[in-house]
Amino acid sequence: MDTRLNRSGQQEGQAFSTSSAGVPRLVVNEAATRLDEKAGVSIDVRTLNFWYGPKQALFDVSIPIRDRQVTALIGPSGCGKSTFLRTLNRMNDLIPRTRTEGEALFDGHNIYEPALDVVALRQRVGMVFQRPNPFPKSIFENIAYGLRIQGKSKSYIEQRVEESLRGAALWDEVKDRLKSSALGLSGGQQQRLCIARAIAVQPQVLLMDEPCSALDPIATLKIEELIVELSKDYTIVIVTHNMQQAARVSQYTGFFLSGKLIEYAPTVDLFEHPRKKETEDYISGRFG
Ligand SMILES: Nc1ncnc2c1ncn2[C@@H]1O[C@H](COP(=O)(O)OP(=O)(O)OP(=O)(O)O)[C@@H](O)[C@H]1O
Ligand SMILES: [Mg+2]
Repeated sequence: MDTRLNRSGQQEGQAFSTSSAGVPRLVVNEAATRLDEKAGVSIDVRTLNFWYGPKQALFDVSIPIRDRQVTALIGPSGCGKSTFLRTLNRMNDLIPRTRTEGEALFDGHNIYEPALDVVALRQRVGMVFQRPNPFPKSIFENIAYGLRIQGKSKSYIEQRVEESLRGAALWDEVKDRLKSSALGLSGGQQQRLCIARAIAVQPQVLLMDEPCSALDPIATLKIEELIVELSKDYTIVIVTHNMQQAARVSQYTGFFLSGKLIEYAPTVDLFEHPRKKETEDYISGRFG
């Protein structure tokens, strides 16, 4: 039983071990020790439904996104993880003929209120994409860009660029080349630059859609360490195909299947004692 889980656990890191009974067990890691079961709710998603034209992609999704915790979203390809993530800062608005019903309460306001200021929402709920997408500008300008739009002063921008690069664990590697093109950075550095760009405007929530899938294992490890560190200050929602990664970085996990949130629980519980058969089948590699 559960061979894939055990096998990949051994290959990819320390997230899983096998108990004497042969049952996969999550090794208690730093992320697990940071579980706060009393954490407040940053975005409270209630009975969310979403359609691409006539095709419904999300069905009655309710999930509390907990404040300053990492929530991992897992599930097979096409189950709606990216769609769900994009509903949290209304990035789906950019796709024609989409429709959202339900509520996502953020600071007492429904994110889907037509009158909501979407630009302000996206500053507070930032996003990091699967492929690093720095602007074709200097390293400094990539971070300064959002701050200039906000009309910040030159001295504030200089200070915040350094703070953001430090916050994204990139400062030491780029401090002597801030005027060089961001496109000259390695993939892993570019992704940390994109994280620095997202945190520069001091969001409350960071959405990350498979942020390591284009990176090598060492760059991946750096981003994972960064996620654990950033979660002290930010609420993070990360989509990942890698269950070991979910176990290494998150405190809560949601499992999606066919547009439905099948199970949501503290990460350790979800992996060690899944309540639903579908979850157990997925995490043990029986499908997906
Ligand atoms: N722009 C779009 N127009 C129409 N249908 C879409 C669009 N984007 C996604 N879908 C459909 O919505 C469903 C959910 O897709 P989504 O990209 O959210 O899945 P996912 O869980 O992120 O998958 P993956 O793990 O492959 O990234 C799929 O059936 C997909 O084909
Ligand atoms: Mg996706």
